[in-house]
Amino acid sequence: MTNLPAQNSDLDLRVRLGRLELANPILVASGTFGYAREMEHLVDLRSLGAVIPKTVTAEPRCGNPPWRTVETASGLLNSIGLDNDGIEAFVAHHLPYLRETGTRVIVSIAGRNPEEYVQLAARLESAGGVDGLELNVSCPNVAGGIDFGTDPDQCGKLVAAVRRACSLPLLAKLTPNVTRIAVVAQAAAQGGADAVSVINTLLGMAVDWRRRRPVLGNVLGGLSGPAIKPVALRCVYQVAQAVAVPVVGIGGIATIDDVLEFLVAGASAVQIGTANYYDPTVSQRLVAALPAALAEAGVRRVVDLVGTLNTDN
Ligand code: SIN
Repeated sequence: MTNLPAQNSDLDLRVRLGRLELANPILVASGTFGYAREMEHLVDLRSLGAVIPKTVTAEPRCGNPPWRTVETASGLLNSIGLDNDGIEAFVAHHLPYLRETGTRVIVSIAGRNPEEYVQLAARLESAGGVDGLELNVSCPNVAGGIDFGTDPDQCGKLVAAVRRACSLPLLAKLTPNVTRIAVVAQAAAQGGADAVSVINTLLGMAVDWRRRRPVLGNVLGGLSGPAIKPVALRCVYQVAQAVAVPVVGIGGIATIDDVLEFLVAGASAVQIGTANYYDPTVSQRLVAALPAALAEAGVRRVVDLVGTLNTDN
């Protein structure tokens, strides 16, 4: 679990998500990179700031009926439904591989109630080899999936319950499907989150008018990809203004300019999601592109860019 040092000794790519230090700010988002093993022939996993595998639940879930994905203009709609083999299969089959990848491993978890989140967190801490947890309180594709992310009170209590049960760094992954995401972020921070991940997908739908049918088997789905980048940037900016904990930006990030836009808007790190589907090597290339981007920005450290947006008129 040792991360590689920044490649260029003149530059400092390291970032902190609360108690969790990462070698660089480029992470891969849950659900877009499998369990990392699938990517090992394409990507030097050690080059990444962290890997976040597909969300794990207490019991195996078979997910939603097809179709589960559909491409839209500049975006991807998905309604996977948290398909996964459950925590015990994860600990037995995926975690042993992940903990040997040489990069940070942040495990995404989702429960039907606070007790399940707590059980999952405790199980993963005792399993060892996990650097942090991302609480998925924002999946729009399962019953109750975003309840903990839309009600600040519930969100804060959930994070606090997990915080009491485990000592791992905690990230809360928030939904944009609310009126004021900053209020939910504040509740997560007050509950003890080390960082907040902003944003999960936007609720959307696709329609096949000829068949008078929704395209997705679950009717509604979550929109990701370049189409949501302006919304994600706005949410990162608002959240970063409202909380003292670091913000991890997610939403349509595919280029080094996207990365720097998010850093300047207030993100301490970013997650690459949908872009992995059409270019699994994108995250590694973004890490490699960081030194030149820092030079162009006139800074030596990634942290010197975070939140430097000037909104004065
Ligand atoms: C899904 O499995 O439906 C997507 C996961 C998520 O949006 O959190």
